[in-house]
Amino acid sequence: MEIGQFNKWAHWAADWASRFMTSVRDLPVRAQTPPGDIARRIPDRPPEDAESMDAIIDDFQRIVMPGMTHWQHPRFFAYFPANASPPSVIAEYLTATLAAQCMLWQTSPAATELETKMMDWLRQAIALPGDFQGVIQDSASGATLCAVLTMRERALNWQGNTQGLSGQPAVRIYCSQHVHTSVDKAVWIAGIGQDNLVRIETDETMAMRPEALKHAIEADKAAGHLPAGVVASVGGTSVGGSDNLRAVCEVAREYGVYVHVDAAWAGSAMICPELRPMIDGAELADSFVFNPHKWLLTNFDCSAHFVRNPEELVRTLAIKPEFLKTYGTGGEINYSEWSVPLGRRFRALKLWFVLRAYGLEQLRGIIRNHIAWAEGLAQDIATHPDFELTTKPVLSLFSFRYCPKGVDDLDELNLGLVNAINDDGRIYLTQTRHDGQMVIRFQVGQTHTTQEDVTFAWKVIQEIAGELGRQS
Ligand SMILES: Cc1ncc(COP(=O)(O)O)c(C=O)c1O
Repeated sequence: MEIGQFNKWAHWAADWASRFMTSVRDLPVRAQTPPGDIARRIPDRPPEDAESMDAIIDDFQRIVMPGMTHWQHPRFFAYFPANASPPSVIAEYLTATLAAQCMLWQTSPAATELETKMMDWLRQAIALPGDFQGVIQDSASGATLCAVLTMRERALNWQGNTQGLSGQPAVRIYCSQHVHTSVDKAVWIAGIGQDNLVRIETDETMAMRPEALKHAIEADKAAGHLPAGVVASVGGTSVGGSDNLRAVCEVAREYGVYVHVDAAWAGSAMICPELRPMIDGAELADSFVFNPHKWLLTNFDCSAHFVRNPEELVRTLAIKPEFLKTYGTGGEINYSEWSVPLGRRFRALKLWFVLRAYGLEQLRGIIRNHIAWAEGLAQDIATHPDFELTTKPVLSLFSFRYCPKGVDDLDELNLGLVNAINDDGRIYLTQTRHDGQMVIRFQVGQTHTTQEDVTFAWKVIQEIAGELGRQS
């Protein structure tokens, strides 16, 4: 494409984006296309000759758009949110245009230095102590992998990367059943193995029992294993299960065991001082991750990973062949030494735009509204005779079940309800299994959701549940 043509299409894209932002609420939330429908419409072979932008854009609208599930729809109540916002989108556009590879300080000093500043702004925003330093990772999964690798290396006296794990005592990691599967994946990738991920019993609040953690560490030491780290949950994915960080960290400290806190979703809410009791004790942890790309209006990908001791992370991950060495400078940060991939996008720019365009007080207001609306809906559901609240709201996430009298298989009914709701398209919900039962999750967190959207969702749920109930 000629540069002159670029201007025309960039304007088209900007117009399209602003039309999309104002009209997305009229589209079905979950894509309504059957499997294979999109692929069937894409040629099997790449074109030999250039095609016109008119044709490409036309296909984007005709083929791609119907196959999109709209995470930016105000009635997206499924999974966790994946926020975006106008200033963040604009920053992403600039980042894409600069297309810089920000692996080392010298490959874009502005990207590195803005990242350092933005991570410190976020650290202050959630009131982590000043001895934590941050790095932007691609995902919470990536941050947790870095943490698990650091746990492994520290426990093996920094010999794992060189000698491998064979012949070493078993490296043991501890967590509750409420952590995200990214923890399981991290222990697989780190070569630690699923069998060495020890699930600690939880109490009625879904928190790890500290005495059970202590007991597991003692038993492992006695068996000749190496207790290496704990991954604590704050706002677990299924129903928001959270650990008591202070209690977990106190046990871990007694045994010199590393603690990583996964607050991927809930962490953004910690910009509200009144919610911070949820992370009481985080100042004792070794690392902490949360995703501004979930609930802080910042486009995917942007995961804020804080570490108390960057030297340990760098010792675990830095590798410096001659072609990556930078001579003549000193003391600068090379963030590729803080993460698994070498290549890095300029992600700090969108955070800078978002934090300045909204300010913390407006961001707090948005999160507080989400929580208040979720609590209001949870109360309505709890008092309806045909529904039950299965877990109380944790911030803006709760779960419920449709349980009209006289139905034998409530799991099948509730799964059927989720599917019928998503086929209908006006709202989007997902299910989970809790205490052996199929339950429906509801979270409020999309940037432009209003109270009316939440009220509307409850109407749709009752309407579709009523139709299903009559059929069963
Ligand atoms: C608690 C928790 N941790 C980790 C993740 C993984 O996040 P990411 O997609 O950034 O890897 C999720 C995703 O929903 C999550 O809910």
